Amino acid sequence: MSEHSIHSVLITGGAGFIGSNFVRMMLDERPGARMVNYDALTYAGNLESISDLEQNPNYTFVKGDICDGELLRQTLQAHAVDTIIHFAAESHVDRSILSAAEFVRTNVLGTQCLLEAAMQCGVKRFVMISTDEVYGSLGPDGAFTEETPLAPNSPYSASKAGGDLLCRSYFHTYGFPVIITRCSNNYGPYQFPEKLIPLMIIKAMSGEKLPVYGDGMNVRDWIHVSDHCRAVLAATERGRPGETYNIGGRNEWPNIGIVKELLKILSQPESLISFVKDRPGHDRRYAIDPSKAERELDWKPRIDFAEGLAQTVAWYQSRQPWWQNVMSGEYQQYYEKNYASKMQ
Ligand code: NAD
Ligand code: TYD
Repeated sequence: MSEHSIHSVLITGGAGFIGSNFVRMMLDERPGARMVNYDALTYAGNLESISDLEQNPNYTFVKGDICDGELLRQTLQAHAVDTIIHFAAESHVDRSILSAAEFVRTNVLGTQCLLEAAMQCGVKRFVMISTDEVYGSLGPDGAFTEETPLAPNSPYSASKAGGDLLCRSYFHTYGFPVIITRCSNNYGPYQFPEKLIPLMIIKAMSGEKLPVYGDGMNVRDWIHVSDHCRAVLAATERGRPGETYNIGGRNEWPNIGIVKELLKILSQPESLISFVKDRPGHDRRYAIDPSKAERELDWKPRIDFAEGLAQTVAWYQSRQPWWQNVMSGEYQQYYEKNYASKMQ
């Protein structure tokens, strides 16, 4: 096991769903480490998700694009960053189908720009948060291992595969210490309500129709975001440079099964379900074999799905102001009101 100590870490995309959960966990679990949250604040970046952490003396927010090499170098040097954990991405498949250009810019070019800046500034460990979607779609049996060939099917997954392979190449070509993680579908607090679980919770709470794509039998392998975050920390500290680790909860569900569970928790009728036109190129099934991460990283998922789903529903029920500000667009004023005005 190769142990790496984190002294000063740059998190990209720390205002997004998984990044914000990671920042919160990290400040709690590694109180001695300094952290810079570097995020461009696209539509998916929400500083309200981490507003309670701003006063922590070990935490700094920098509004920045991963395609901006100059600002990256300045930030890495100013904070003597030794570790990068790269969450920033365009992350929604449906958006990538409507328009792929931003996905290529951020997920491919941005990742390369970040790798270059990191290497120039002597970063000691670079963790790339990739996705199981780079493997493409499975038939009814088996699961993705780290050896499964990459066969991405959406512009989102193809652009993630581009970033993932660039990371691989920086290890092989330059010996740059990159570790890649590929996780399955996450759920939990602070997820943007364009993704399946929060979208369905909010619609069901409001008594609106729940749009299920196709026949609802596409299978996803769900993991609680806190289990994913613990795995990323384990990979950062205990992973081997040049290696890839699959992360998942061994928890496969057809979409229709999830939607019915949510309706049950919320005591709403199944008549709210509305089957709608399928997503083009919709991957049928994802399933992750996480044995390598379990074996090498001393990690395993802890959160039982029924419990995690019920907690997530309760979170959205009790945090209406959070998601109502997302729906109204109010959350996009947060930076102007709380940071930009103070810098003038
Ligand atoms: P998200 O869309 O909620 O957050 C993405 C964050 O990145 C936002 O804060 C956004 O402002 C920031 N960002 C986007 N473009 C940027 C740029 N050019 N420069 C700087 N910041 C930028 O995404 P998420 O669901 O939290 O996913 C985080 C990472 O995990 C992504 O890389 C995604 O591919 C990967 N992943 C997600 C899942 C999942 O189920 N959500 C599963 C496996 C892997
Ligand atoms: P999503 O949360 O977009 O994640 P991903 O596409 O990265 O797996 O979707 C999860 C599954 O839910 C996917 O099979 C598409 C399906 N889905 C619906 O059926 N209806 C919806 O409104 C959404 C957003 C997704």
